[in-house]
Amino acid sequence: MTTVYLIVGLPGAGKTTRAKELEVSESALRLTPDDWQMAVFDTDGPTRWRSKERADQRDRIEGKLVEVGMRAAELGLDVVLDFGLWSRDERSALRWIAAARGLRAQVVYLPVAFEEQRSRVADRYESQPGQFHLSEDELRRWHGPFQAPDEEELHGGDIPAVSAGYATWAHWAAERWPSWPNS
Ligand SMILES: Nc1ncnc2c1ncn2[C@@H]1O[C@H](COP(=O)(O)OP(=O)(O)O)[C@@H](O)[C@H]1O
Ligand SMILES: [Mg+2]
Repeated sequence: MTTVYLIVGLPGAGKTTRAKELEVSESALRLTPDDWQMAVFDTDGPTRWRSKERADQRDRIEGKLVEVGMRAAELGLDVVLDFGLWSRDERSALRWIAAARGLRAQVVYLPVAFEEQRSRVADRYESQPGQFHLSEDELRRWHGPFQAPDEEELHGGDIPAVSAGYATWAHWAAERWPSWPNS
């Protein structure tokens, strides 16, 4: 069965590193929105990613990557969505969208402790041109909103019911990722 890997973790957790491993070991298509954002908005300074405009454009990039990723998986390629996916709802939506297409979704969680994260992100910022600047305070604070996947998610258990107000997870996804065509 074709697999869509959902890579989950905070910045510096090692998501892209793992995604690149899967790209090789599973002959998978790796979709890393950071790469697209840096390529499209290549004149951005290191802090421009924080603007509302850029955050909205980022969501639109992700929506198109969900579209192309799900299509590629339908065509038989394993796909790696190297997104971060901090919220359980995002993961539920993508698991639901995959299941609706007869695809297997596999949540891959990379936990990281703050001190390790801080040193990795600092090293990466120094060594890789074009990286987004992330402050120590941001890195610390983001452990709050981040929702680690539970055992149920990690083992492909039942997908939770969609939040009130949405007919299906596809409707929820169309709001979260406005460029996703939901068809
Ligand atoms: N398991 C690991 N142990 C040590 N360093 C790692 C590990 N995984 C990734 N790194 C390093 O940490 C930095 C961040 O990794 P990266 O994969 O870019 O994280 P993310 O995509 O989650 O932000 C990179 O410089 C990478 O080489
Ligand atoms: Mg990354």
